[in-house]
Amino acid sequence: MFTAPKGTYDLLPPASEEFLAVRAALVAPARLAGYGYIETPIFEDTALFARGVGESTDVVSKEMYTFDDKGGRSLTLRPEGTAGVMRAVLEHHLYAGPLPVKLWAAGPNFRYERPQAGRFRHFTQVDIEAIGLDDPTLDAEVVALADGGFRAAGLSGFRLLLTSLGDATCRPAYRKLLQEYLRDVDLDEDTRRRVELNPLRVLDDKRPQVQAQLTEAPLMAEHLCADCAAHYDVVRERLAGLGVRWAEAPRLVRGLDYYTRTTFEFVHDGLGAQSAIGGGGRYDGLSTLLGGPDLPGVGWALGVDRVLLARRAEGVPAVESTRCAVFAVPLGEVATARLSAVVGALRRAGLAADMAYGGRGLKGAMKSADRSGATYAVVLGERDLAAGVAQVKDLRTGEQQAVDLDSLVTTLQEMLQ
Ligand code: HAM
Repeated sequence: MFTAPKGTYDLLPPASEEFLAVRAALVAPARLAGYGYIETPIFEDTALFARGVGESTDVVSKEMYTFDDKGGRSLTLRPEGTAGVMRAVLEHHLYAGPLPVKLWAAGPNFRYERPQAGRFRHFTQVDIEAIGLDDPTLDAEVVALADGGFRAAGLSGFRLLLTSLGDATCRPAYRKLLQEYLRDVDLDEDTRRRVELNPLRVLDDKRPQVQAQLTEAPLMAEHLCADCAAHYDVVRERLAGLGVRWAEAPRLVRGLDYYTRTTFEFVHDGLGAQSAIGGGGRYDGLSTLLGGPDLPGVGWALGVDRVLLARRAEGVPAVESTRCAVFAVPLGEVATARLSAVVGALRRAGLAADMAYGGRGLKGAMKSADRSGATYAVVLGERDLAAGVAQVKDLRTGEQQAVDLDSLVTTLQEMLQ
């Protein structure tokens, strides 16, 4: 027997209803704020991610699902959405219209990570990107829309961690300062290599013996240039105005290299090690990295799988699936033909209706009717057919009445109003 590949899982009813509802809730505030739907391919040129996300990140260097297609092109299943969205914005010159270009997307992403609770190799994100302006009020909008999305999805036990990662003016000098500090610290060889490649990531090292040596490390937030500091001040002022609460997180490090200035992560305390339920920030250099014009951008991605786990951790009641209104129970061929048409008509009228298939007997079919959660069961036997009626049973009370077959659909519609 085959099983789903390691690090993946099947979404099955009724939990899958919850998935759909949560995915919709997470982006609902963004849709009210003018973000339009974009769908990009699930695979892209490998070089797009190598360049956009960064060769030195774990995502690119260790976690990508990369393959050659039959035409010899190197393609990669997308490990995240931002690079593909920016590629599409550049390819279709969306920036030639009014700015910012506001887009939202939802779909699967793929990372070859070590699977554990809340960490999958195939996972679903919803994503928004606002491209074309470096207005700090837009950063605050983006952050507030994530906060609103989590609340719309039923969560309250989460925190927003916020910082600024500086820009091309102040980050290089800070990076040098941090490297100088880290070269004097007692580190293993792998970490020493990271000091030279990607020193900010060392700040994120989870090992206590490393962390103990980093307490005095210089922090980006303390070395912002005047423009970045002013930008960050306005972001915080706007967030306060929007009623969004945050904690300063000067050691926040993200797993993708494109971030500049405002950077954030939402963490949930009920999730254990994989506590990030969403994250994002500004990426003012991404467009030029991909060969486009100087287009700033800001956005986020929220992890749908983790939001589902967080809802469970908070005890948010499960989403109810659409309840069946009418369940039809035909007894015999002629009745099956008749009720199949009735069920079709009910569905066209917008009612949830189902019927017993497979020529099942009355007892088994009534069991299915009960299980369906239907309000009414409609039973049609040979004697009913001869009399031109159907038996409509109220499954809540057990009461039963004969209803004229010719007006069955309209009568049921009236009964369900
Ligand atoms: P990210 O922080 O890599 O950002 O991912 C965003 C969210 O996706 C995480 O906070 C987490 O909830 C979820 N996630 C990531 N990896 C996994 C996994 N292996 N299993 C389950 N959930 C996962 C980005 O992807 C950026 N593209 C966000 C962004 C958009 N920045 C600017 N615009």
